Amino acid sequence: MRTEIIYADSTGDLEWVGEKAADLLAAGEVVALPAETVYGLAADAMNPDAVAKIFAAKDRPAHDPLIVHIGNRDDLRLIAEIPDDIAEVCKKLRDEFWPGALTIILPKRPEVPDSVTAGLDTVAVRMPADNVFRAVLKAFQGPLAAPSANRFGRVSPTSASAVEDELGGRIPLIIDGGACRDGVESTIIKIEAVEGTKPNFHVLRTGPVTIEMLKPFGRCKLPGKKGYVSIGIEAPGQLDSHYAPTTPLRVVERPEDFVPEEGKRYALLTLDGGKKSKLMDAAAWDKIEMLSPGAGKLPEAAVRFYHLLRQLDGGGFDEIIAEPMPDLGLGVALNDRLRRAQHGSGSAPQHAADE
Ligand code: TXA
Ligand code: MG
Repeated sequence: MRTEIIYADSTGDLEWVGEKAADLLAAGEVVALPAETVYGLAADAMNPDAVAKIFAAKDRPAHDPLIVHIGNRDDLRLIAEIPDDIAEVCKKLRDEFWPGALTIILPKRPEVPDSVTAGLDTVAVRMPADNVFRAVLKAFQGPLAAPSANRFGRVSPTSASAVEDELGGRIPLIIDGGACRDGVESTIIKIEAVEGTKPNFHVLRTGPVTIEMLKPFGRCKLPGKKGYVSIGIEAPGQLDSHYAPTTPLRVVERPEDFVPEEGKRYALLTLDGGKKSKLMDAAAWDKIEMLSPGAGKLPEAAVRFYHLLRQLDGGGFDEIIAEPMPDLGLGVALNDRLRRAQHGSGSAPQHAADE
């Protein structure tokens, strides 16, 4: 299949781009497009045959559910039910964070195909903020299912060229809207009402809407953190082998103390240049990439994260050594992705057929 790439930036005609994508989507096709988080691969959420094409293009196993994207608040009713006991907090969260990078898990409407939700009785929903994504939703006039536009288990794409590397030849259209503003996937929460006090937010995936931002609205519960009690709703598909480069990656607490093995080529992924001279002394790195050179700013680090991971992955190194990020704000999401990248790195992506 030939993959067409069209450009949509602030100077382009978004309406034309939206309509071109909507025509393909209405015909049951898939389209790759930018979100503010990462690039997504969209299909008509209500058409099982179209949804099946997402799974096929990505080699994604059927047990990994998709996020449904809506263009306006009213469309929420088409796909989800909002239980009375969380209606108020749901509204507050929507008012505060939509359009934006917060995905909420809600009981699903029967009209949503089982393939979207992997047979679960819940559906993941968000309203994206990206202009291109919004133009496509507006032209299509219906909910769009869209996972990240990478092959299953691989590093998420934050540029159109990364999507082309992942899915070129497998999909008919990629919309190039430039680099993604946030750079990591949306935060996913499931809300649990608690009698007489604030609700619990089970944070199934950390992301651009940080724990600090969610705190005024409820109590955040994170797997692996102190006080977390599993209630069996960890995000399916949140496998430890996600977001993985093919080059082995290791998170090292103090890279300045790292002892390289003779004859091996190492790349270092670090937050800023603050410790650069010390790091340069400590080991013979073949390459040092800084996520936020000089500044050490986490939002900048997030925007560059997957891009640099991809570049280092293609650099022919024996190992990528990554320094952990500060464990606050966006750093929590970056550390989560680093941990998963370490776990799944160095091996070929798992095939749906192997599941
Ligand atoms: O930022 C994003 O969320 C991007 C853009 C394209 O919007 N999308 C994205 O989708 O990251 P994906 O497929 O890579 O991640 C979706 C994850 C699933 O792997 C699963 O962990 C979780 O969302 N999920 C989906 N439906 C769920 C459900 N009903 N219950 C629990 N988790 C669910
Ligand atoms: Mg993904």
